[in-house]
Amino acid sequence: MIPKTMKAVVLSEPVPGERVELTEIPVPQVRPGWVLVRVKAFGLNHSEQLLRLSEIRADYINKPIVPGIECVGEIADPSDSHFKKGERVAALMGGMGRSFYGSYEEYALLPADHVFSVQTDLSWAEMAAVPETYFTAWGSLFEGLNLQKGDTLLIRGGTCALGYAAIQLAKAVGSRVIATTHREEKLALLKEADEAVLDTGRLARTLRGVTKALELVGAKTLRDTLRCVEKGGIVCHTGILGGVYTLNGFDPIKEIPNGVYLTGFFSNYPIRQTMEEIFSFLKEHRIRPGVGAVYSFSHISKALSDMDHHRVDGKMVVVI
Ligand SMILES: NC(=O)c1ccc[n+]([C@@H]2O[C@H](COP(=O)([O-])OP(=O)(O)OC[C@H]3O[C@@H](n4cnc5c(N)ncnc54)[C@H](OP(=O)(O)O)[C@@H]3O)[C@@H](O)[C@H]2O)c1
Repeated sequence: MIPKTMKAVVLSEPVPGERVELTEIPVPQVRPGWVLVRVKAFGLNHSEQLLRLSEIRADYINKPIVPGIECVGEIADPSDSHFKKGERVAALMGGMGRSFYGSYEEYALLPADHVFSVQTDLSWAEMAAVPETYFTAWGSLFEGLNLQKGDTLLIRGGTCALGYAAIQLAKAVGSRVIATTHREEKLALLKEADEAVLDTGRLARTLRGVTKALELVGAKTLRDTLRCVEKGGIVCHTGILGGVYTLNGFDPIKEIPNGVYLTGFFSNYPIRQTMEEIFSFLKEHRIRPGVGAVYSFSHISKALSDMDHHRVDGKMVVVI
């Protein structure tokens, strides 16, 4: 039986993790084109932290908002969709947690075309580590960078959930991986890469043979990353960990080296085929999704506070 009310995180203004609370709100009514998902677990993301601490002030955020750009769970009400009640699903993006209520709640009303059936034997916590993180890693590596076996991949900003996932996927296809961190004490966390490098902000001309680069630090280091790849190489700009979001004064003629390609990846448009490929790939290559810490929903404030204070390495997951 679907209850009338549920627990949720509802935000209207910037709030640090310590002050986040659960409130009781009505369970949403289904409508055509949307399905009701009983949320079993959800991953936490850097972009949700940016929303909670500052972006929530922006006019385009529909307030009040339940944050959360991804979740896994079961179909509670399929509405007019092809889904069956109880079907195991994953959902992500498309406005979740920004334009409409996202995943930090017990039941989420989500557009059916951003909900994907999942065949997996992963636990809810492991499954919750996959949708946004592995979809973004997958799209950046295989769509953006066309990563191949013989490539040497530079992952700039490797010590984030996305970085760890990208290392796993790239190693699984046989690429050589160089991953960076800006903290010397975190070099050991990059042990799955072939080489771990301390990022001082200037890496150009210090690395050899880099054919592809995944930029997760963002605009802060992009100019330098463009000079790290060989002629014919590709740089995919996916992350913004460095806190610089745009390239003011960027001169493409002089700053993109001749014969180097620059692209980007935006996870807003997941499709069924790719989501299926990702879960089958993980199974085929026996990759366990990396989980840094698991919290219960009643401890959401602790989870978000740990995120704000960088206390966890790897994907943070909340189980309901
Ligand atoms: N383009 C897209 O559609 C898309 C999709 C998903 C994620 N992203 C982006 O990808 C990045 C990773 O996301 P995530 O959710 O995986 O992050 P996350 O797991 O929440 O990781 C955040 C951690 O990254 C670490 N970090 C590593 N290098 C850093 C640097 N140079 N500057 C600052 N922090 C650094 C920080 O810890 P330390 O400082 O202690 O190392 C921070 O705690 C984010 O920028 C996110 O916005 C983009």
